[in-house]
Amino acid sequence: MSVPTSSAQWSTRLGFILAAAGSAIGLGAIWKFPYWAGANGGAAFILPYILFTFTAGVVLVMAELALGRSGRGSAVEAMRRAGGRGFVWCGGMAVLTSFLILSYYAVVGGWCAAYLAEALMGEAASQDPEVLKMRFGELVSGRNIAWLFAFLAAVCLTAVFGVHRGIERLSTCLMPIFFLLMVGLAAYSLLLPGSEAELAYLFQFSWSTVTPQAILNAMGFTFFSLSLGAGVLVTYGAYVNKSTRLPSAAMWVAILALQAAILAGLVIMPAVFAYGLEPDAGPGLVFITLPMIFAQLSGGSIVAVIFYFCLFVAALTSAISLLEVAVAFLQNECRFSRRAAVFLCFAALFILGSVSALSFGPWNDCLIFGRSIFDFLDYVCTNFLMTINGLAVAFVVGWKAWPKAMKELSTCSPENGVVTKGTLSAIGFGLRWLAPLMVLASCWQGLEA
Ligand code: TRP
Repeated sequence: MSVPTSSAQWSTRLGFILAAAGSAIGLGAIWKFPYWAGANGGAAFILPYILFTFTAGVVLVMAELALGRSGRGSAVEAMRRAGGRGFVWCGGMAVLTSFLILSYYAVVGGWCAAYLAEALMGEAASQDPEVLKMRFGELVSGRNIAWLFAFLAAVCLTAVFGVHRGIERLSTCLMPIFFLLMVGLAAYSLLLPGSEAELAYLFQFSWSTVTPQAILNAMGFTFFSLSLGAGVLVTYGAYVNKSTRLPSAAMWVAILALQAAILAGLVIMPAVFAYGLEPDAGPGLVFITLPMIFAQLSGGSIVAVIFYFCLFVAALTSAISLLEVAVAFLQNECRFSRRAAVFLCFAALFILGSVSALSFGPWNDCLIFGRSIFDFLDYVCTNFLMTINGLAVAFVVGWKAWPKAMKELSTCSPENGVVTKGTLSAIGFGLRWLAPLMVLASCWQGLEA
């Protein structure tokens, strides 16, 4: 029997905020942020990132949520209702984007699961960089696909249980644990000798380190880290009840996402500095540099388990949100049951994900426009698809359906306060001018890279 998604709802405001924060906080915050901050001059990257999060970023979060709540269905339905028939394709593109992102995101999610398993068996750490490099190499070129399967299975299993019993329950249970553990790890890391150097590196701002490149990178990172431009928040917005005040909920999501990224920076950087390693080590930072540090810490094997657990939770809750876009679409537009929708996605994602996974091993010489399949998908999604989606949302909500959106943004039960006219016009301004400008600028930067 088909169950229309519009009947599904978050049971509490907190549950919704934690699920949306779970989506935002992912590999972006923990895996990408520390090494991007490292490579882009520390504070010169972090300050623009904070600024963009609380301007165009949060405004787009509000827009996606409002679009979703007024659409009461999938991303396609939301676009149809707000933008008319002419914008249905934008909704379809959002579904495609989240699907493609998930196909390669799940590959890295699989690595996180693999490292968590190794940490649990006490085998993640080693003093020898060559051993660590070899182990990472072996994982990405060999067992990759088995771990992809396991990770996707965990994601799909949660999705089968539905919005409230699956996604909301898991997020409400895991996200607070995630934050507690990350605070503990950051405190531990800050107690290591030499952590002052790191704090200075992350937070001491000087104009001389600011480059246009760092600013534009920070913009791109903001959009990815807030899960924008792929229909995720539109889909989650459809499950929000009418008593919730959207602008403040969006603000909470942005604050939590930012907090998680900064915490991840505080966990990783002091350790990296304390052991004299390079903060801009690239994607290998978390999988090659950190295990070396774990081997030298007292209680390192426990720290490793906690760290990879957090990384795994972050990846899992984000992947679940990406999957929900396609599941809601199949339920709403194609009248699939939830179970059938999840199963179909699982099969398709496993096939597509395996292609990305193989591009690290046997297929690494198969290049598309000079990039491996994995890199190519990431490039197309973050630079083209997310950009077009972001622009479409800003246009539809900010211009085409603004009166309706204003009503949606200010709808909430009286005990939850009111949204003032001033707030609404600030959101409108951000959405019409600031957001499109910033989305285009970060896309342009991505194309140059
Ligand atoms: N925000 C997540 C991260 O930082 C990833 C993610 C989830 C995402 N949903 C998204 C990125 C939608 C872009 C679009 O890891």
